Amino acid sequence: MKVTIVGAGNVGASCAEYIAQKRIASKVVLLDIKEGVAEGKALDLSQTATTLGFNTTITGVTNDYSATAASDVVVITSGVPRKPGMTREELIGINAGIVQGVSSSILEYSPNTIIVVVSNPMDTMTYLALQSTGLPKNRIIGMGGALDSSRFKTYLSKALDKPANDIQGMVIGGHGDTTMIPLTRIASYNGAPVSQYLDEETLEKVAADTMVGGATLTKLLGTSAWYAPGASVAYLVDSILNDQKRMIPCSVRLEGEYGLEDICIGVPCIIGSNGVEAIVDVKLDEREKQQLNESAEKVKSMNSALKDVL
Ligand code: 2OP
Repeated sequence: MKVTIVGAGNVGASCAEYIAQKRIASKVVLLDIKEGVAEGKALDLSQTATTLGFNTTITGVTNDYSATAASDVVVITSGVPRKPGMTREELIGINAGIVQGVSSSILEYSPNTIIVVVSNPMDTMTYLALQSTGLPKNRIIGMGGALDSSRFKTYLSKALDKPANDIQGMVIGGHGDTTMIPLTRIASYNGAPVSQYLDEETLEKVAADTMVGGATLTKLLGTSAWYAPGASVAYLVDSILNDQKRMIPCSVRLEGEYGLEDICIGVPCIIGSNGVEAIVDVKLDEREKQQLNESAEKVKSMNSALKDVL
């Protein structure tokens, strides 16, 4: 199985690293526009194979899309990352042109591929990729919910002082500081509702910390995060390539599900070899429904900035 990662920055390289290390694909191609960067990172990563024990071949190329031919999955990470103080939304103008160009080049060589969009603002870039390529909705998946959910579970595990892997929870809505919806009501510690152990104030703090999870890291690092984004991409790609059919919150096109349409936004999906195989209908309470509607309004108003490119 072959995975191409477009953009060999921190996030792209981290995706390649986890995909190889976890033996999710046999071939990884890293592509970047900066001469030598993808080649260098691919070579460096290849030299970890014998110590880490994987046989995935990792190839780096500068803008040569022919090397990406017949990819099963393509991950688009290209674009400008956030600087401290910037919102994901402020990247829209620059990243729209990049994502549109990359998607069409990719499809020339891999017409049957499944595309995973990571570039920000992620929900809007997913919508753009879908509209501009005309691909069926199961083949364009926005990666945000897997990352936001992993941050949510980490903050919950810290608040509970329990192991992170004993926590279940998900974040739906947009992948933005004011659009994310951490579903604290249905989060659990091995099946027991977290509200049995944490008071309302703590739960609100966990939700608030989750929503600005990316911004907190951007402030600390001076650029956006890469380990958790890369690992979340690998988790999603594994579910596609190995047909795991995991339920993962992803940004996908809605056509009436959750009462929304003509939008890509985070909802729980079954992810398998056909990409988005189903959207899971989780029963939301009135407050959560309202939050999702408000989140969708914000994402739609951001999408309206695409009218110049679509
Ligand atoms: C983040 O939240 C990169 O959007 C990504 O860190």
